Amino acid sequence: MAIKISPSILSADFTKLGDELKAVEAAGADYIHIDVMDGRFVPNITIGPFVVEAVKRASKLPLDVHLMIGAPERFVTEFAKAGSNIITVHAEATRHLHGTIQAIKKAGVRAGVSLNPATPISAIEEILPELDLVLVMSVNPGFSGQSFIASSLKKIERIRKMITASGKAIELEVDGGIKVSNIKDAADAGADVFVSGSGVFGTGDYKKTITAMKAVG
Ligand code: DX5
Ligand code: ZN
Repeated sequence: MAIKISPSILSADFTKLGDELKAVEAAGADYIHIDVMDGRFVPNITIGPFVVEAVKRASKLPLDVHLMIGAPERFVTEFAKAGSNIITVHAEATRHLHGTIQAIKKAGVRAGVSLNPATPISAIEEILPELDLVLVMSVNPGFSGQSFIASSLKKIERIRKMITASGKAIELEVDGGIKVSNIKDAADAGADVFVSGSGVFGTGDYKKTITAMKAVG
């Protein structure tokens, strides 16, 4: 399976974000992953639509926007206007997931749903055919630099089976603790889009890192 790499800018040097974006683009990144946190759904506060809009001007890559905020339906339109190409919401964060997904698609953006480590895959069973992407959290969301939770591999395998059975072209993304050393396990389990923050930006040579990551596909 072809592998896509979505470097998370949470681990980039924000004093030179434009250079960092250019560097990962030149290194072969496929998406730019942007982690939006509200200090309620997760214990950290990060980026709003204003920064997404600035990233849009600085990168040609599709923006993979991961909303870790409560009631994300309140901000779908704003993040769409800011230039998001994919908007992923958490199944745990919205009361009317179906309606939220419809709102994302109506805004002309690809729609994803993310599951926290403890959330069962049944949470997406009914909505799966509507989705463009499923995002499996392999750490508890909130911070970069955490260790990959090994039980995520089984979860990825099971979701890959659901996607295959649906017959739809739905991307299966994994987020948290992905590095050159463990990306093969997640790829073998069936993931095809890999978020990596510290696993890319914490290395000296982004091109070498992303090339090595893609080589396992
Ligand atoms: C965690 C974020 C991740 C994070 C990944 O809440 O959703 O995208 O930035 O960072 P690493 O790859 O360092 O675990
Ligand atoms: Zn993320």
